[in-house]
Amino acid sequence: MTALHIQGGVPLQGKVSIQGSKNAALPVLAATLLTRESSWIRNCPQIADVRHMINLLQSLGCQVQRANEGFVIDSSRAEACRMSGEAITGMRSSLCLLGAMLGRFGEVVMEHPGGCVIGSRPIDLHLKALRSMGVDFAEEDGRLMGRVSRLHGADIRLDFPSVGATENILLAAVMAEGNTVIAGAAKEPEIIALCNYLCACGAVIEGIGSSVLRILGGVSLHGAEYVVPADRIVAGTYLLACVGCGGSVLLENAPCDQMESVIGIAEAMGAKCQKDCERTGAERRPEYGWERGIYVQGPKRPLAITKLRTAVYPGFPTDLQSIALAVLTRANGRSVVEETIFENRFRVVESLRAMGAQIEELGQNKVSVRGILGLKGTQMEAKELRGGAALVVAGLMAEGESEITGCAYIERGYENIGKDLRDLGARIVSV
Ligand code: EPZ
Repeated sequence: MTALHIQGGVPLQGKVSIQGSKNAALPVLAATLLTRESSWIRNCPQIADVRHMINLLQSLGCQVQRANEGFVIDSSRAEACRMSGEAITGMRSSLCLLGAMLGRFGEVVMEHPGGCVIGSRPIDLHLKALRSMGVDFAEEDGRLMGRVSRLHGADIRLDFPSVGATENILLAAVMAEGNTVIAGAAKEPEIIALCNYLCACGAVIEGIGSSVLRILGGVSLHGAEYVVPADRIVAGTYLLACVGCGGSVLLENAPCDQMESVIGIAEAMGAKCQKDCERTGAERRPEYGWERGIYVQGPKRPLAITKLRTAVYPGFPTDLQSIALAVLTRANGRSVVEETIFENRFRVVESLRAMGAQIEELGQNKVSVRGILGLKGTQMEAKELRGGAALVVAGLMAEGESEITGCAYIERGYENIGKDLRDLGARIVSV
């Protein structure tokens, strides 16, 4: 797909099934390296970042087979070798191979990981924590080299609850000698997903879902079958699209329990959201741990939000900030949006302004938006994953035609955003 063409102004109607979570699948795939056995990871999203991670695992000697919307990964013959090239530099989440490689082989050499252009994204917290577990790091020609002769548990306090650092520490700690405590750990559902997979493989982790994790080191892990949970950010994208466009949609499998802050904001914007099982009286699907999905009725015109502020989980996710901003451009009144996690996440403002949005910058990480009745469709270029999705939502809301290029960014996280939105009645084609 090189571009998306959208004829905007159509309320959304229908149902869409939510794909597996990118940010849960990636560290779980990296964790398969620790087991020396086969794991079956089901409900993996078919997206560019997952394909990159699979390529990396294969380059390390893992045998990978596709199996029913997922992969069977046999890591018994994996070998330490240098990871380099596009796959690493193009994907921030390759960073979780750092903890996995150190856990499995005691050494790692990798290019500095890339990812979306949403700030400087340092990795100091990862390095400091892994150093306290005995790892020596050096940098040479832009490459990061880590080596440890005896990986040992440690008492770690994270100054910020970094998702990636918590994942890397977990991956190293399950393989370390002795126990590890992570205080100030991230509590995101993706951390819970990684802990659940590791525990299915035999790891012992206490405090899952809390900010203090205790990991018993040195337990030998076996392979396991694991179902990746549905993607709360993809579900939130389509939920907010319905708030912006109006209409009513069913987000099948959406993980309602992980989306309280998003549902709260959508309701404050005038939407009505209901857990589908409550609406229909249908049974839960305990094997997946979610409640069939969310039914959303969008308002005719969204209401403004006095202050929308991103925060770590369970706060409003930074990954949905630009999408909420797009919706607020047509709200009835003035809203303020503040980004607190990443420093460069207002890259969509320029494109939204080109559509007629009234957005004023209030310092580096805060904007004020005065809602207008209708955006005008135009040509836009996606510059990062979630910002790209925000432009798609803006195009759906706008009068007339929009064209969005730079779709490779969007494909990093959305299996098929064009088809999903067509299923919801949007006039959108991929070219
Ligand atoms: C994960 O990134 C997600 N990526 C991001 O999703 C998500 O936006 C982010 O968590 C926050 O929820 C994956 O899971 C692959 P962090 P991560 O470490 O792990 C600073 C998407 O669109 N920090 O919690 O990189 C950092 O600069 C992506 O799907 C340090 O200062 O996030 C940032 O300001 C984009 N030093 C903040 O912490 C460090 O060593 C949050 O980063 C690490 C992080």
